[in-house]
Amino acid sequence: MKNILILGANGQLARNATARFLEVGSDEHVNLKLYLRRASRLVNPDPRRVSVVEGDVCNARKLQAAMQGIDVVFASLSGEMATQAQHIVSAMNAAGVRRLIFISSMGIYGEVPGQPYRSVLDPYRDSAAVVERSDLEYTVLRPGWFTHDADIGYQITQKGQPFIGHDISLDSLSTLIVKLATSDGLYLRCSLGVSSDH
Ligand SMILES: NC(=O)c1ccc[n+]([C@@H]2O[C@H](COP(=O)([O-])OP(=O)(O)OC[C@H]3O[C@@H](n4cnc5c(N)ncnc54)[C@H](OP(=O)(O)O)[C@@H]3O)[C@@H](O)[C@H]2O)c1
Repeated sequence: MKNILILGANGQLARNATARFLEVGSDEHVNLKLYLRRASRLVNPDPRRVSVVEGDVCNARKLQAAMQGIDVVFASLSGEMATQAQHIVSAMNAAGVRRLIFISSMGIYGEVPGQPYRSVLDPYRDSAAVVERSDLEYTVLRPGWFTHDADIGYQITQKGQPFIGHDISLDSLSTLIVKLATSDGLYLRCSLGVSSDH
């Protein structure tokens, strides 16, 4: 059984992944803690397996409290991502939580063929660097553009390799996130480019 904390739980990808966690995980397999600002926006999708906590990721006290009993943190955020990443790493270290899945973006290493690095990616690059400097068992995901296609599989590139593809179905990305969160030892301390397999 895994206890999974989802940070930024009202985001598009986080909501898609939440649904996927609840679809594939049987009662024994996953419990979710959804952490978000203004929690009244979200209806608890399954009170037997899901709890909802209101909080800002930059609220150190609340974030650390939310980490209690957690096995895996899944962060799907936006905005001041480097500061958010620092808070996440600190709270995980303080709470003794090791496993982090962190959403960034394709392009942060200038790895997309034909596309020069753009400063709009700075928050994604800088937050990934904070995570990579930590001692945590992280997987940074660098997805392509999100689509609403069906789950059509995904392809992965490692850091140092050119990014392959362009977009990624939210359902396919969620499938990968669920696999990473529920399997032990998969892609630890890796930064993965992810795109749809077509
Ligand atoms: N769309 C794409 O094609 C694409 C491609 C590659 C990467 N990405 C990146 O992937 C990430 C997830 O995408 P998405 O579409 O799911 O984004 P999204 O819908 O904007 O979700 C991001 C969530 O982060 C939350 N958040 C921001 N700051 C927070 C804080 N301090 N504390 C708690 N929550 C906070 C927001 O909460 P509020 O609702 O309270 O504002 C929002 O719900 C984003 O960084 C996005 O840029 C997107």
